[in-house]
Amino acid sequence: MDFDFSLVMSSLPLLLQGALVTLKITALSVGLGLIFGLLAGVASLTPYWWVRIPARCYVDFIRGTPLLIQIFLIYFALPVILNTRVDPFVAAVSACSINSGAYVAEIFRAGIQSVDRGQTEAGRSLGLTWFQTMREIVIPQAFKRIIPPLGNEFIAMLKDSSLVSVIGFEELTRSGQLIIAQTYGSFEIWTSVAIIYLAMTLTISQFVAFLERKFRTDER
Ligand code: ARG
Repeated sequence: MDFDFSLVMSSLPLLLQGALVTLKITALSVGLGLIFGLLAGVASLTPYWWVRIPARCYVDFIRGTPLLIQIFLIYFALPVILNTRVDPFVAAVSACSINSGAYVAEIFRAGIQSVDRGQTEAGRSLGLTWFQTMREIVIPQAFKRIIPPLGNEFIAMLKDSSLVSVIGFEELTRSGQLIIAQTYGSFEIWTSVAIIYLAMTLTISQFVAFLERKFRTDER
């Protein structure tokens, strides 16, 4: 079987456009996920059970059900209750960011718990409230430890965002499917799609490695 390079070249503009959309939903989802995750991560560590329990339920539900089903719930099930249509872009970003938030929450929780207890005790004994101690003392120290796992989450989300192709949202995977539907070039197109994902994930991991080095030298 011959590899048809001209098909790859002619499909490249559409695939790259799809890749840009993939990057966009990933960046938006992880960006929003950082906010949800910080809130849920801190909430799951508070001494107040009425804050802690809802946060745990959120994290457990999201991590315990497939992202694919969460996409279906938002795109197909929610509109039944709300009696409206949900835009595929809104559904894609909502599902991915709510999902990412739960994984980020666990990253924050682990990062915060890795900071020595004495730091919290010192803050509290200086008269800071629990929340001030978190904000001023614990979270800044936790931050550099969570850069590598956050980088992993970004890469994982970039790949998992391919699942939103099932609701017809046109990102990289969906662009590939649509091109194949017209050209029958499965071999060339899926190979190209894989290489484009790989190029994006390798670039991100290089960037995360750079951030890690930067924060390490700043520490000395
Ligand atoms: N593949 C897993 C699932 O279907 C995880 C998806 C979410 N990934 C992420 N990095 N937030 O549930």
